[in-house]
Amino acid sequence: EQAGKGEYDHFMLKEINEQPVSLAQAIEGRIDPINGRIALSDFEPGSFADVDSVQFVACGTSYHAALYGSLTLNQAGVQSTALLANEYSVSAPPIDDDTLVVAVTQSGETADTLNALRRANAEGAHTLTVTNVVGSTAAREADDALFIRAGPEIGVAATKTFSSQAVMLTLLAQRITDDLRGEPPTDLESLLSALDAMPGAIDNLLDDSDAAEIARRYRDSESYFFIGRGLGYPVALEGALKFKEITYEHAEGFASGELKHGPLALVTPDTPVFAIFTGQEDEKTLKNAEEAQTRGAPVIAVCPEDHPAVAIADDHLEIPETDPDLAGLHANVQLQLVSYYAADLLDRPIDKPRNLAKSVTVE
Ligand code: AGP
Repeated sequence: EQAGKGEYDHFMLKEINEQPVSLAQAIEGRIDPINGRIALSDFEPGSFADVDSVQFVACGTSYHAALYGSLTLNQAGVQSTALLANEYSVSAPPIDDDTLVVAVTQSGETADTLNALRRANAEGAHTLTVTNVVGSTAAREADDALFIRAGPEIGVAATKTFSSQAVMLTLLAQRITDDLRGEPPTDLESLLSALDAMPGAIDNLLDDSDAAEIARRYRDSESYFFIGRGLGYPVALEGALKFKEITYEHAEGFASGELKHGPLALVTPDTPVFAIFTGQEDEKTLKNAEEAQTRGAPVIAVCPEDHPAVAIADDHLEIPETDPDLAGLHANVQLQLVSYYAADLLDRPIDKPRNLAKSVTVE
């Protein structure tokens, strides 16, 4: 097992560091080099032209990636929703044959997600699985499959597969929008150049991260909060899930604007707040972060170096300037590192957290 970890103490850290390569693999060949549009050559042009609405179903980290994809579609004007697969059997929205149901699952074997997929198949939806595992049950049972090509992920905590799922769903969202409108969204050029730069940018971020120091500085805290808006919201949820999963410390993710609707009562000097800035109404997120800071909470801004939040926050984790569709994914890598180093300081069994399994094959 040690041999498989190479120079790293844990698979999780190895897999976090593999992201420049796994992201390049996810993107490779999926952008048309001639006209610079999202090709996804797995699908004929116009394949999604009849789609009325898109439902994503997934669990855990894959649900956060699904939410990321769903919000991206909504922002492009396409009706979409992300649902927890384990809630789908009691509360699936109406489905017809113009509904596209996308099952997002790293393993392709999660029982809850398979159940939701089977229900969608039975009700006549067009189904698609986005997975890492070729030949998995979900890949076989859906009408179509898209593979994220992240390579094996051994750590129970999903890291590189989240990033690849979210990138894959960003490409899919653009392709669906393109098929529905007959033309790509206007900001496609910015997205394509940000996608192209992403593997290198993540490589630099991994080399220069202050996450270990931040984890050390806040190691004695009572609870850890993560806030984000727009595409920063699923990243806040994912940051908190990763943190609680491997450190066993209490962590919660909130939509920034929700803090004042209840969670602010929990905020004290012992509850650091990680604030994720993606370029979507950042001034509001900054205001929300300052509301927590006024109650004594240290704020760690996850944003580019010259962002106004840096001057106000107590600490800073840097991400590069990039397209708002991808900024949150860069922030997420910083948060993966914070969780990893915090768990390491606590001497947790990082690759195999108690009570959890890599693939949950029971309902
Ligand atoms: C998170 O780190 C977990 N490994 C977990 O939430 C996971 O994402 C969930 O169980 C779904 O698994 P899947 O992607 O294989 O369907």
